Amino acid sequence: MGAMRLDKFLEKTLQESRSGVKKELKKGIISVNGEPELHPERKIDPDVDRVSAGGRPLIWEKSVWLMLHKPGGCVTAAEDAGHRTVMDYIDHPRRAELFPVGRLDLDTEGLLFLTNEGATAHRMLSPSHHVEKTYFVRVRGELTDADVRAFAEGIDIGEKKKTLPAELRILRSGADMADEARDADCPSGKVTEAEVTICEGKFHQIKRMFARQGCEVVYLKRIRMAGITLDEKLAPGRWRELTKEETERLHTYAETGGSSDF
Ligand code: URA
Repeated sequence: MGAMRLDKFLEKTLQESRSGVKKELKKGIISVNGEPELHPERKIDPDVDRVSAGGRPLIWEKSVWLMLHKPGGCVTAAEDAGHRTVMDYIDHPRRAELFPVGRLDLDTEGLLFLTNEGATAHRMLSPSHHVEKTYFVRVRGELTDADVRAFAEGIDIGEKKKTLPAELRILRSGADMADEARDADCPSGKVTEAEVTICEGKFHQIKRMFARQGCEVVYLKRIRMAGITLDEKLAPGRWRELTKEETERLHTYAETGGSSDF
């Protein structure tokens, strides 16, 4: 495992926030190899050192991070009376510990992380962290450069403030999309495909932003979050563990609030 800071170890094993860990340390109830320890920066090796809180040994378990290609028609919750849930697709041996990081709507597809690591997940979802999420979207209607500018400036979706600047990239629009227009039940024939990147997570945010621009979202898929792209090899309903490199990248992202370059 190698050496790590005591406060990081405690965040995971106690499932506490950074400030929660500070409090526990201040109380003087944390000990390392039988000796009381007050310093968050103390380096420990979880394979070698014995850490306890109020006499209770803290056992280090490797954290688990999965990416699921969420299919449409399932809810992002642990249980639901009417629909399948994302957990129904997870047959990982440590499934019972896992929870989804954020939410996608019932009909939204794409990248959803699941983890047992509460502190990092919490940090990623915190509004102050501005984690980037990119969606592929098909809308009924036509998008133009004016919409690109509106997204960049922020859109009034009826909240206290406008949305933060978002990047809209129009991929295909209009005449060459007759098949898609038929599928979207759009007799005018105006359908547009685009990618949009936002760095906040208001309720139904993407659908509301497009609705404000006069377009209805008919298909929505998250393709990237926190610097990690949905694995194209994963069919809808399939999951895989994140690689070590991806897990590290995600942690760096959560630490820096998405400000580092990937
Ligand atoms: N925005 C939405 O409107 N729905 C989602 O599922 C995600 C983002």
